[in-house]
Amino acid sequence: MTTTPPSTTRLEEGRKKVTTRTFQQKKARGEPITMLTAYDYPVALALDRAAIDSILVGDSLGMVVLGYEDTLAVTMEDMLHHCKAVARGAQFALLVGDMPFMSYQVSVEQAVANAGRFLQEAGMDAVKLEGGWERIEAVRAIVSAGIPVMGHLGLTPQSVNVFGGFRTQGKTAAAARRLIEDAERLQDAGCFSLVLEAIPGRLGELVSDRLEIPTIGIGAGGGCDGQVLVTQDLLGLFDRFTPRFVEKYADLHAEMGRAFTAYKEDVEAGVFPAEKHTFTMSDAEWQALIDSRD
Ligand code: KIV
Repeated sequence: MTTTPPSTTRLEEGRKKVTTRTFQQKKARGEPITMLTAYDYPVALALDRAAIDSILVGDSLGMVVLGYEDTLAVTMEDMLHHCKAVARGAQFALLVGDMPFMSYQVSVEQAVANAGRFLQEAGMDAVKLEGGWERIEAVRAIVSAGIPVMGHLGLTPQSVNVFGGFRTQGKTAAAARRLIEDAERLQDAGCFSLVLEAIPGRLGELVSDRLEIPTIGIGAGGGCDGQVLVTQDLLGLFDRFTPRFVEKYADLHAEMGRAFTAYKEDVEAGVFPAEKHTFTMSDAEWQALIDSRD
């Protein structure tokens, strides 16, 4: 007998798809926007059922799922593959695909074509890209093609080699001023929202107050219009390091270890599989099998 998967209909009643307009409305009402990353179907489904506003298929994929030291090796094909899985799992959240290193830096034409693939092939609603003044032309062109763009300032991981490591940004008055100018340029170029990563809390708040578009902070303090975290960090699934700005809401790495050890012990002790895991065959069929053997 097959079992029916648990229904989500009640949960889904009255829910509407989150759009870039919802982001704007939430900022206007002073309601915090929630965003988390996902890279696969089951996590996307769980985030959607928890009514998280937006799912970012981040290029953090490279570090927390694929095991690279940074995000630079992630390709368009990697991103599209994972975006498709997430799109199959989420119905309501605004889906944002992160443009990987070298998919938008070489030319504006390439940036538009690659951004288009996220919507056309992978079911995303918007794209995100890193950088300020140097990306304005690309942002303008992508937005004029009808593709919503989320900007990303502060610690932009694709520039880790320029920064000399994953370091907090915008800590001097001059650096903070440059970041504010970049934020205003990105808004003017048509970004619908802006990620602010690893900057002082008071700068995050200042930028959020100055901009009309919502800011989404990660290590940018509580003054941003929304918050994003890498889900693997929040779940305690990425054990290599935990940035200071992360709150671990679970310790799934340790939990996985416990489950795997228990499984190994049960198999080795002959306790698993038990009767309840084992399929049966009628006595008559069994006897017929025995009798047919020579
Ligand atoms: O790739 C990613 O997950 C991100 C977030 C950290 C904002 O860019």
